[in-house]
Amino acid sequence: MTDTTRDILVTSALPYANGPIHIGHLVEYIQTDIWVRFQKLRGHRCIYVCADDAHGTPIMLKARQQGIEPEALIARMQEEHLRDFRAFGIDFDNYHTTHSDENRELASLIYTRLRDAGHIESRTIRQAWDEEHGMFLPDRFIRGECPRCGAADQYGDSCEACGATYTPAELKNAVSVLSGKAPVERESLHYFFRLGDFTDMLRRWTQDESRLQPAMARKLEEWFEAGLADWDISRDAPYFGFEIPDAPGKFFYVWLDAPIGYMASFRNLCARDETLDFDAFWGADSEAELYHFIGKDIVYFHALFWPAMLHGAGFRTPTAVHAHGFLTVDGQKMSKSRGTFIKAQTLAKHLPPEYLRYYFAARLGGGVEDLDLSFDDFIQRINSDLVGKLVNIASRCAGFMHKHFDGRLAAELPEPALFEEFAGEGHAIAEAYETREFSTAVRRIMALADRVNQYVDEHKPWVLARQPDTLGQVQAICTQGLNLFRVLALYLKPVMPELSQQAGAFLHDDLAHWDDAARPLLDHTIAPYQPLATRVERTAVDTLLGASREDLAATDSANVNREQTSVTDTAPAGEPIAGEIKFDDFARVDLRVARITHAEYVAEADKLLRLQLDLGGEQRTVLSGIRSAYEPAALEGRLTVMVANLAPRKMRFGTSEGMVLAAGPGGEDIFLLSPDDGAVPGMRVK
Ligand code: 2FM
Ligand code: ZN
Repeated sequence: MTDTTRDILVTSALPYANGPIHIGHLVEYIQTDIWVRFQKLRGHRCIYVCADDAHGTPIMLKARQQGIEPEALIARMQEEHLRDFRAFGIDFDNYHTTHSDENRELASLIYTRLRDAGHIESRTIRQAWDEEHGMFLPDRFIRGECPRCGAADQYGDSCEACGATYTPAELKNAVSVLSGKAPVERESLHYFFRLGDFTDMLRRWTQDESRLQPAMARKLEEWFEAGLADWDISRDAPYFGFEIPDAPGKFFYVWLDAPIGYMASFRNLCARDETLDFDAFWGADSEAELYHFIGKDIVYFHALFWPAMLHGAGFRTPTAVHAHGFLTVDGQKMSKSRGTFIKAQTLAKHLPPEYLRYYFAARLGGGVEDLDLSFDDFIQRINSDLVGKLVNIASRCAGFMHKHFDGRLAAELPEPALFEEFAGEGHAIAEAYETREFSTAVRRIMALADRVNQYVDEHKPWVLARQPDTLGQVQAICTQGLNLFRVLALYLKPVMPELSQQAGAFLHDDLAHWDDAARPLLDHTIAPYQPLATRVERTAVDTLLGASREDLAATDSANVNREQTSVTDTAPAGEPIAGEIKFDDFARVDLRVARITHAEYVAEADKLLRLQLDLGGEQRTVLSGIRSAYEPAALEGRLTVMVANLAPRKMRFGTSEGMVLAAGPGGEDIFLLSPDDGAVPGMRVK
């Protein structure tokens, strides 16, 4: 055992149940998963729970738009999220939903305790009401002109142009996003959590250096300076959420029950695992550790509202909240039009998901700085570090072992001191993992990989293998090399569990515990070598970006929830013009006039239409992400323009043999191209 066994409960922020997991989300899940796997490898009892964040107006409306119950929508989204997490090796001990019995009970319990202790009050407020839809409008469902700078089309709570924050009533010429009509004001009784009651407790809590990163603690200072205001925790029907126990027609605001979802997911796990005791982890005097990994933009929920709620309701507070920065891609915000808004599912189709884990680990520190995914750097690190350095050690030593020694490692190491040095590095690498300085851990591991390659280069087993009298030295050198490789595969296991598992299969060793690095494998037979990693070519990345651009039409254009990573949805006119191409480049694209002879919905694909196209004799089937903007019947018979020489693309719902051309950001704003009168199917567009 490395040190005393710890009981640790870890969470990542709960993803909303109305959107796909994308690479921005993955920064957090990968970061958390690496940390959890590290703790488990050290022998600690570390439990990682998460859940879908299933409540709120956007989810209710999305389900309504699709003509299904919210329960059906969240069930489908949960399956998709789990599929994506599995692909990236995110190994939750439990993945639940906030729309669960456990969460309902815990939310009611916490609310009731807070109310009974006098921390809840109710009062009437005036709020924007959409007369056509018969509902109160969340701030994000109101658009208008910024009262400060006059910028058009801003949200009801803040201006993206000048950064001003305000109330929807201050917005000029406001309209409801739902009906397009001006909202009216209506009164309604709301329930508030008196956050100010906890000012002293929260000041102490946030100033305790072990709880928050310094940048986050400083950020929260602004809130204390402004005074901790009451927090509106109720919403009126219609709302998809939990009804407040003593307040019919009033529901808990999604952010009230979302963090309680952490507890609920753990309680759900306790019901299946009798070695776990809910109170031992959540009771006021719990000695277990509790960590929340989150994006830096939701720190006030986790470091103010949440500890106050827990404390006020008689539960323990988090040991620490670990925030991370946002993801940029090639130095810019993720952008749908540039193809850098990449869904987890799309990435997993085009690149080995573990490569992203490696890359993020190589770039992640323990702070809140933004992290850039530079694809050139990504290719370089995978090809030169992982393939060229690490995996190379195994591949260059294994051949000799099998060719000359039946895969049998020697009975002793020729350089035990070198092995000891590698084992000793484990302390610094473990410290880096513990403090979430993963880039340091990876840098140290790769520096060791350089050392092994140098060792093999210096001893030249390929030369020694040619002479019978020096052949014996080859076994010793390769035993040394493979043992050092084994230590590195173990150190890298939290980041690349699959690669390490394959390395373990090759070494006939389960690499089960961090401390196994201290003992060499000797007089031991290994399996034949199978490639553990292959190079990434630029074309694979380009194909990924192209596929993500195509996803554009199939992705929600208006995610009215908080975007966890900053996504730019460039306005059509503001979209930068792509890099210059030669006429020949353009001429390679064969654009044809096509007639849509038949159009239909695609079962289970809520974004796609299946189009039959006539190109003047030749028939094509194209799957197109235009369902949100077109009824199939309205398309039949009309002419459009298609890319006729695009390689067929296999999708889950069939093969798409080309692409029809359309403009617009997505959602209802998709505009299919049409030729002028007189054009006939098959004509080339040039
Ligand atoms: O911002 C979000 O994506 C939220 N769904 C995160 C919730 S985290 C927790 F509080 F539940
Ligand atoms: Zn403004």
